[in-house]
Amino acid sequence: MYSFEELLKLYTAKFNTPHFPEEPQNLYEPAEYFLGIGGKRMRPVACLMGNELFDEINEDCWKIANAIELFHNFTLMHDDIMDDASLRRGKQTVFARNGANAAILSGDVMLIRAYEYLSEINPELLQPVLALFNKTAREVCEGQQYDMDFEKAENVSLDAYIEMIQLKTSVLLAASLEMGAIVGGATKNNREHIYEFGKNLGIAFQIQDDYLDCFGNPEKFGKEVGGDIRRNKKTFLLIKALEKVSGAQKAELARLLVNDENDKVEKVLAIYKEVGVDNWAKDLLQQYAGKAMQHLDNIVVVKARKKHMKEFAEYLLQREY
Ligand code: IPE
Ligand code: IPE
Ligand code: MG
Ligand code: MG
Ligand code: MG
Repeated sequence: MYSFEELLKLYTAKFNTPHFPEEPQNLYEPAEYFLGIGGKRMRPVACLMGNELFDEINEDCWKIANAIELFHNFTLMHDDIMDDASLRRGKQTVFARNGANAAILSGDVMLIRAYEYLSEINPELLQPVLALFNKTAREVCEGQQYDMDFEKAENVSLDAYIEMIQLKTSVLLAASLEMGAIVGGATKNNREHIYEFGKNLGIAFQIQDDYLDCFGNPEKFGKEVGGDIRRNKKTFLLIKALEKVSGAQKAELARLLVNDENDKVEKVLAIYKEVGVDNWAKDLLQQYAGKAMQHLDNIVVVKARKKHMKEFAEYLLQREY
């Protein structure tokens, strides 16, 4: 069995080859550029680990892993247009570098490449894997739509936020693990638990992402710190702050949400710190991490096999980038 780190190395080495032809350059070069500037590759590795939890890694799993990573990068390329983001992985986004049109079409072709990788797998595996892949892809779009709708909404509940991040982020991690488990021949019960493990871990992961978007070290994080504040994203930080403020602070926060001033980010961050939402973030994250671990415990497989999965979860939740 490979450790998480070994698999990450192996996968990264395999993945770092061209995925597209050269021409037309303006279509394929931005896609290769985007794949080349890094990324943690955690979803494809999760897929391989899901397979390895139950059986030796099957050749087809590497193809599914590629499909997942291509799909993920497609969502990010379009997300950067939607979020007006110029920085990712410490580098220019395709949106900033090549423009919106390039980010749309190069993103589209990455999605097509994802399905090409999927289409190469054994026909018997294809049916269940494709069904889960498609369900998940549709849910990610639903989550992205809620994320955009919430920018304009005044009242977003914590439950609605959790539902939104579950869709936009966590189902892909959950499905990556479950697709691996399908390849590994897991039982239905084990498939359900590994999915729920990934779902709760994914929620914790997005909570961490939202936290880092406000309090991360810009050099490590590789994205614009404060981007969510600038876009009025309804993250749990904002939801919790709105719940806790009163008096002058409440009026100030309400004003900052409608006025785009130069020091908006600094001012909102100051309020977040004063009301202590940063500490609350850690509690919320731990709640979901705890739920994830329960589901991992419930998977029926020799205990020693779960060790690497635990390492993977810890790595994800401690990330600063
Ligand atoms: C970014 O995902 C989008 C979110 C769901 C927060 P990652 O943080 O996994 O992005 P890369 O691929 O490692 O850059
Ligand atoms: C992105 O969420 C989720 C998807 C792309 C599906 P974010 O907008 O928070 O991701 P980052 O912060 O840009 O990576
Ligand atoms: Mg974004
Ligand atoms: Mg977004
Ligand atoms: Mg984010």
